[in-house]
Amino acid sequence: MTSTIPHQLAAAPSSAVPPETAAPPELLSPAPPADAEPGLRSVAVVGLGYVGLPTALALHRSGVAVRGVDVSRRRLEAVRGGQVDLLPSDLLDLHAALASDGFSVGDDPTAVAEADAVIICVPTPVDDHLSPDLGPLESACRAVVDWARPGQLLVLTSTTYVGSTHDLLVAPLAARRGLVAGRDLHVAFSPERIDPGVVEHEQGRTPRVVGGTTAECTRRAADLVGRLTSSVHAVSSAEAAEMTKLYENTFRAVVLALANEVAGICRTLDLDAVEVTDAAATKPYGFLAAYPGPGVGGHCIPCDPHYLLWQMRLHRTPTPLIEQAMTSIAHRPHEVVARAVEVLSDQGRGLAGARVLVVGVSYKPGVRDVRETPALEIVRGLEQRGAVVAYHDPLVPELRLPDGRVLASATDAPQEQWDLLLLHTVHPGADLSWVSAHPLVLDATYRFAAAPQRHVV
Ligand SMILES: NC(=O)c1ccc[n+]([C@@H]2O[C@H](COP(=O)([O-])OP(=O)(O)OC[C@H]3O[C@@H](n4cnc5c(N)ncnc54)[C@H](O)[C@@H]3O)[C@@H](O)[C@H]2O)c1
Repeated sequence: MTSTIPHQLAAAPSSAVPPETAAPPELLSPAPPADAEPGLRSVAVVGLGYVGLPTALALHRSGVAVRGVDVSRRRLEAVRGGQVDLLPSDLLDLHAALASDGFSVGDDPTAVAEADAVIICVPTPVDDHLSPDLGPLESACRAVVDWARPGQLLVLTSTTYVGSTHDLLVAPLAARRGLVAGRDLHVAFSPERIDPGVVEHEQGRTPRVVGGTTAECTRRAADLVGRLTSSVHAVSSAEAAEMTKLYENTFRAVVLALANEVAGICRTLDLDAVEVTDAAATKPYGFLAAYPGPGVGGHCIPCDPHYLLWQMRLHRTPTPLIEQAMTSIAHRPHEVVARAVEVLSDQGRGLAGARVLVVGVSYKPGVRDVRETPALEIVRGLEQRGAVVAYHDPLVPELRLPDGRVLASATDAPQEQWDLLLLHTVHPGADLSWVSAHPLVLDATYRFAAAPQRHVV
């Protein structure tokens, strides 16, 4: 737990903010062409991860000079060497950008002072107790406040609790630097909606929400994010934009928890959960398809709703539905392990001593990211019950387990015999024809009907 106390929702924003009328919600028109913003020549992007790097590249494509700032030397080396997990088109852009004059990366936070605008997109994870770990965000915001200068635009994009923009930027800018948001410089929140590895959800076609400290802050931030997308939706405050992001990801968490529960119902009734979901999805309104799986991973859905739960505990506001969804999501890998026990037991054997191959370990198809991947809990659970576990994932050559051990992907796995294949992630284009030849398959993806001895969770 960090020392930061969430900003009270009932409190007015900062008393240091000038009494400017907030912008009404509206859909802003697409960004003006680059030459309509003569003031914006350079942008600093703080945090060059799954979100920051594609954002930096898109800004560079839009015609501004970009300076990427990251505290991780390892990450900077990977970026400079082009060894990063990006969509193929972004990877090409990265090589071109690195060879150009207007794109550079480094670890010096003072570079922030040289930029006309600063975008902050550092991680906002949860700790082992599922409480927000605000360390990276607080540290990044502290550095930006230290080096901010009059006339700049500062846009926070990390998913975080409601009031963060005020607490971590607006208030310290006024208190430590004497810089008033809306008067001396502009501050806004605009949540990221990048969907790593999914070409259909590319940034340029994904609308962005923007809420500033004042109406002018909102307008300037909308101009900036309008360089990244063709549609910008303005809300009345940074707090409304922060809550928007938490709501959309909490919605997703609840729907995924429901999808897993419905899959259990379908198994009980001997129905195919995917067939039923596809059929329900033909309804043109009021239903959003979500599919069951081995659990929910990545840096967003298993983490973001905990920022809301944490904040609501301060307010003593009950959130039973979200609590239940997050408990169910956290428990899902244990259900997968329990099902593995059941499936093996139906064959007259136990999990102890069984050779189990987990197929695919990243948290979703097409990415190398293993943050919060359910595979970690599943491997741990299988091993705790005595199974001999290996994994096979062409995108993840090594997997660091919670106990510090590092497993290497079993490249020869398709040729070997396994007591149980546990399908966790199926990457696009992966040749899994060998799976069908195996006698026992637990398909936690619900997508591999081809395997003859296939069981679902
Ligand atoms: N990954 C996603 O799919 C996704 C989608 C939408 C929103 N988000 C949100 O965007 C934010 C960033 O997520 P991400 O997935 O890009 O994280 P990430 O871990 O991939 O990258 C974050 C980068 O920030 C760097 N960093 C950490 N502290 C820093 C500091 N003080 N100064 C400069 N750099 C620092 C890290 O070294 C890392 O390279 C999070 O709040 C996340 O919830 C993520």
